[in-house]
Amino acid sequence: MCGIVGYVGQQEAAPILLEGLKTLEYRGYDSAGVAVQRNGVIHMVKAQGMIRNLCEKTRDGADLHGTVGVGHTRWATHGAPNDTNAHPHLSNGEKFAIVQNGIFENYLELRELLTEKGYVFHSETDTEVVVNLLELYYNGDLKETVMKALARVQGSYAIAVMCADFPDRIFVARNGAPLILGIGAGENFCASDVTALVSHTKNVIYIDDAEFAEITARTITVYDSTGTPVQKPIARVTWDVEAAEKGGYDHFMLKEIMEQPRALKATIDPRVKDGHVFFEELKLTEEQLHGIHKIVITACGSAYYAGQAGRYVLEQLTRIPVETDLASEFRYRDPIVDEHTLMIIISQSGETADTIAAMKEAKAKGAHVLSIVNVVGSTISRLSDDVIYTWAGPEIAVATTKGYTTQVAVLYLFAVYLAEKLGRISGEEAGKLADDITLLPQQLQRAIDLNPKLEKLAEKYRDNPSLFFIGRNVDYAVCMEGSLKLKEISYLHSEAYAAGELKHGTIALIDEGRLVIALACYEPLFDKTMSNVKEVKARGARVLGVALEGNRAIYTEADDVIVIPRTNPLFNVPAEIVPLQLFAYYVAKANGCSIDKPKNLAKSVTVE
Ligand code: AGP
Repeated sequence: MCGIVGYVGQQEAAPILLEGLKTLEYRGYDSAGVAVQRNGVIHMVKAQGMIRNLCEKTRDGADLHGTVGVGHTRWATHGAPNDTNAHPHLSNGEKFAIVQNGIFENYLELRELLTEKGYVFHSETDTEVVVNLLELYYNGDLKETVMKALARVQGSYAIAVMCADFPDRIFVARNGAPLILGIGAGENFCASDVTALVSHTKNVIYIDDAEFAEITARTITVYDSTGTPVQKPIARVTWDVEAAEKGGYDHFMLKEIMEQPRALKATIDPRVKDGHVFFEELKLTEEQLHGIHKIVITACGSAYYAGQAGRYVLEQLTRIPVETDLASEFRYRDPIVDEHTLMIIISQSGETADTIAAMKEAKAKGAHVLSIVNVVGSTISRLSDDVIYTWAGPEIAVATTKGYTTQVAVLYLFAVYLAEKLGRISGEEAGKLADDITLLPQQLQRAIDLNPKLEKLAEKYRDNPSLFFIGRNVDYAVCMEGSLKLKEISYLHSEAYAAGELKHGTIALIDEGRLVIALACYEPLFDKTMSNVKEVKARGARVLGVALEGNRAIYTEADDVIVIPRTNPLFNVPAEIVPLQLFAYYVAKANGCSIDKPKNLAKSVTVE
């Protein structure tokens, strides 16, 4: 939530900050602001709404002069989205400016203390409290002041701070929220995400929780919480600028849907060699693998649904019991995990606060944590015992597509790997399954090609105020992801239901014309799903069926049919979700919704 950027160099800072904010807009987009400083004076402009409002207000930054600055795009937590609550925030004496991503949990207590000392607050934010705390503690030594303030605040945050007395530097700090430093030539940067840095530099430093850094045009010094300098490795970003741009598509979401065959190939191919699945990156020993009694998959949103889809294959191939749990629930139910539990954490961003908390809980109880993450160097990737990266490239649209399908693909690969290691399947079977997984990129491409009529179907059904997705077995897992996709970008209400469960109450909502999307790709239960389709049709529902290519029976029951290519039946999900992604996309487009940046949402949920 929220994106922050910072610049120290020789160029005018404001246009660079605005460009950076545009790439971070997916993180929050209800208001934005920049502050630059020149000759000991901090100049600040803020605007409610998208970054384009801020660009208009500053003539693309041309109205602001100074070579040091910070910027922010906001997803409101404390206070309504308006100009006053937007960041940056200035201290009462206008000596300090700050931008923050996260939450200062003890801000009320600090606000009281500062009010007693005569400080006045203009916004409802927690951030304005901390900028005044800096001013209160200021003794002419900026590093010491920052350390003192950091020692006093509690919460999960990343900040960038400027001080009018130090016109050549910014200080940044992180604790639980992402922050990356970019190393340029005679200029340096900071940002919440590498997408804001790649057009300037590919050399970055990932700072860790409880560390802070001092950035000038020529130096970056990272300190631990005691103020001792820490040597940090310089990492090289492999993403390029094009990967973070729309490349001719109307929306990032459509571009990312279309990129899925390539993303799957990049994720799968390096892990399949000579008919076997290999994870060269894994540290899990044979002994640890044999000691696994239970697998727990924990994640949020679509990543959780990817886990639910993968669970079927993991259980079927390994015969190890698999639990799935929402990360936001996991840590509050005193979960039963121990050193015989393999905890699989799934996260595209690697920064989701609830998921991080669940991971810490599992680690504390002795579980081995294996994460499936897309963003290299993210918090989850760094705190896990083992990481398997999805190589989907940067995902910008708030609604995940290639993130989800690559997560499912990694779970398939891992299921085959583990089953072979444990001797639950033979080498020959493992080879056959691995080969089938390598076919997924082209099968997913066929799922895209088979469905040019989705735009028309979306037009036909876009007025449904409320609809159902039904399916059995792994089709049910896909229903949940399909329903979430539709809800989050088109704002149509939908429910995902296990097809057999409808008649236990919810069928009361089925009436004349109600749309039911019936997923019937899991063929062992096809007839049973068709019985449920008949039940809803008998009550007046219109049915959009999704089935495997060549299945004629679906046409006798459904009003409209979407087909997907045949894959190994274990591995249907990536191809099966594609028409639902496209359906959600075209419904949202037909209804004029903000597709890449849906209302109330943000790409990376770094608050609990
Ligand atoms: C998916 O379309 C959503 N935007 C959301 O559910 C997302 O999957 C969830 O917030 C988890 O994010 P993560 O994968 O970055 O942890």
